Amino acid sequence: MWRFLILFCFVNIHKNIYSQLVYKDSMQPIETRVQDLLKRMTLKEKILQLNQYTFGENDNPNNIGEEIKNIPADIGSLIYLNINPEIRNNIQRKAIEESRLGIPILFGFDVIHGLRTVYPIPLAQACSFNPKLITAACRMAAKEATLSGINWTFSPMVDIARDARWGRIAEGYGEDPYLSGVLGAASVKGYQSESLSNPYSIAACLKHFVGYGMSEGGRDYRPTDISKQALWETYLPPFEMGIKSGAATIMSSFNDISGIPATANHYLLNDVLKNKWNFKGFVVSDWNAIEQLTYQGVAKDRKEAAYKAFTAGLDMDMRDNAYGEFLEELIEGNKISEEQIDSAVVRILRLKFHLGLFERPYTTIVNEAERYLQKEDVKLASLLAEESMVLLKNQNKLLPLSPSVQNIAVIGPLAKNKTDLLGSWAFRGNPKDVETIYEGLEKEFGNKIRLNYALGCKKEGNDISGFEEALKVAKTSDLIILCLGEDKSWSGENASRSTIALPRIQEELLTHLKKAEKPIVLILSNGRPLELARIEPHVDAIVEIWQPGIAGGSALAGILSGRLSPSGKLSVTFPRTTGQIPIYYNMRQTARPYGNMGNYQDIQTTPLYPFGYGLSYTNFTYTNARISSNKVRKDEKLTAEVTIINTGKSSGKETVLWYIADPVCSISRPIKELKHFEKCYLLPGESCVLRFEINPYKDLSYVNSSGVRFLESGKFILYVGTEKLIFEVVE
Ligand code: NOJ
Repeated sequence: MWRFLILFCFVNIHKNIYSQLVYKDSMQPIETRVQDLLKRMTLKEKILQLNQYTFGENDNPNNIGEEIKNIPADIGSLIYLNINPEIRNNIQRKAIEESRLGIPILFGFDVIHGLRTVYPIPLAQACSFNPKLITAACRMAAKEATLSGINWTFSPMVDIARDARWGRIAEGYGEDPYLSGVLGAASVKGYQSESLSNPYSIAACLKHFVGYGMSEGGRDYRPTDISKQALWETYLPPFEMGIKSGAATIMSSFNDISGIPATANHYLLNDVLKNKWNFKGFVVSDWNAIEQLTYQGVAKDRKEAAYKAFTAGLDMDMRDNAYGEFLEELIEGNKISEEQIDSAVVRILRLKFHLGLFERPYTTIVNEAERYLQKEDVKLASLLAEESMVLLKNQNKLLPLSPSVQNIAVIGPLAKNKTDLLGSWAFRGNPKDVETIYEGLEKEFGNKIRLNYALGCKKEGNDISGFEEALKVAKTSDLIILCLGEDKSWSGENASRSTIALPRIQEELLTHLKKAEKPIVLILSNGRPLELARIEPHVDAIVEIWQPGIAGGSALAGILSGRLSPSGKLSVTFPRTTGQIPIYYNMRQTARPYGNMGNYQDIQTTPLYPFGYGLSYTNFTYTNARISSNKVRKDEKLTAEVTIINTGKSSGKETVLWYIADPVCSISRPIKELKHFEKCYLLPGESCVLRFEINPYKDLSYVNSSGVRFLESGKFILYVGTEKLIFEVVE
């Protein structure tokens, strides 16, 4: 009895002391808590915070315990490849109860375009030009993620991609720095909400810092050769915008920047990110990127790699355990100091406090039916899919389908395909949740239109045995909906292609179907812009649906029937042929802009579909564009406005893009640059006035190759739709 009482008192005294610890006290300011915790930590505990391990997909209750046993209780972070919140809580319990200081683990995962409620790939989302919708989608993804035990996503990717051979073009917002920055910020806002401590918030991670999209030849993991000018003008801006929007973390990229791998790039991680931009979050390496410094030829072994990455400003080691193995030795050898370790640890602890992990380390368990695929979330995924789809061609106004159409041939490898519509980086998407194109059409048309299906051919290969059946089906129908496209594994990481054309067999199926002499609506589902030079002339209409996620079927069917009006505009240029790469709208000015100078001899040099291109079922007229003054001082502001009238017969959404050109400057500037955009919805006959407030220092300036901003006086041109306004900046 006495023994029991003594034990009881001891436990309670201990509990009291413990609960008085400053870092445990949620009433204390976060910085105070961080410092208090830091001073209690041993060097070993600190170093473990700088490491991220992976936790496998194993959810076998018989041996999961073994896996958990292998995880150190003091580990900083885990990439949690499982989405079972109970297992996650068991791991967290180990950290809270078995580690000396009870520091919670930060669980990260690639939630890229939804977790279970998969919405369109980012390249497609960008075509919506709708940041609010993207914020809402990311918020929904964050909720599914938190309910699965995830606190941190490795998203958004704001790498500018101008080479569609690079498979990761699917994961970003396209070719334009401003659009990528705005949408990256919108995504951060969605994941993190107003406060990271909101129970449904997760930390965002801007990636890949920086220049990964420039991998030579579009081949993943290859070197990049980026001039300092391009770095500052094109690749850094979306990251800066993302940091300003409050992104909690950033991931360094695999590539080197003119010889110095991003993982060990002191200039970028330390001078630019932490000093110039005053970034208070932490930098995580990409997967195995520290060890890869040895393959990139800048470190002789893993120890030197750890040294180089750490001293460059890289805080957390993703999965290499190079920090775990070598940082202590590096301190002993006086190569690095404990203060340097502290400053990295502080950044990681700070995020854990902000996320409220010390107060709420465990995930609330709700059943799966409440966790995923909520009705309003599926609706949101469908809306985003709809706004992402781009009508590329509509000859003779074939779309929307006329009420006289009674029989449709639905042909092609993507027509009844579920898996590929999910796109890359949808690890927790389940094909059974996906509505196919065919199902969408069935739902839309019910028994009003007969659908006649034929596969035609597979996505690739030489088997043309389905061609005849497809032709037969086509002949007995009024019109052909041909669904072509890519396998989801053809884009994403390590998915480079030497040509962005569809496999020959798909092109041949189209040519074969021409024999039916029926109108053809081509539906494309793909993770990159495609080379359509040989296909485009043979079809009457083209709808680019990208990889729309689980709810693209109805969205597309609604567009085809005319229930919805297409409104997407391209976030990336479609070249005519692969050989035109790189091709993007904001190229710098050429030395010989006249005649046929510098053009290709064998093809047209213009793109097939430029950035910002996309048709509607209605017509929008741009008129009455004006500017508050045609002269502005550098410290003044200007307001431009334009009236948009829906002069067509149906309602529709129009994205209004405002571009600026600086024809004469100390350095040659791009032909034009997107500076502002807005989307409006108009009924037939309705009009609206949209405005762009021009702030010269922000919108008319440029950076030099050291990142210093300049604003020069002189003439500028503002483009909006078909309108053009000229004004002058004076001293
Ligand atoms: C490697 C990829 O490059 C990166 O984008 C991703 O977040 C990590 N792996 C983690 O899966």
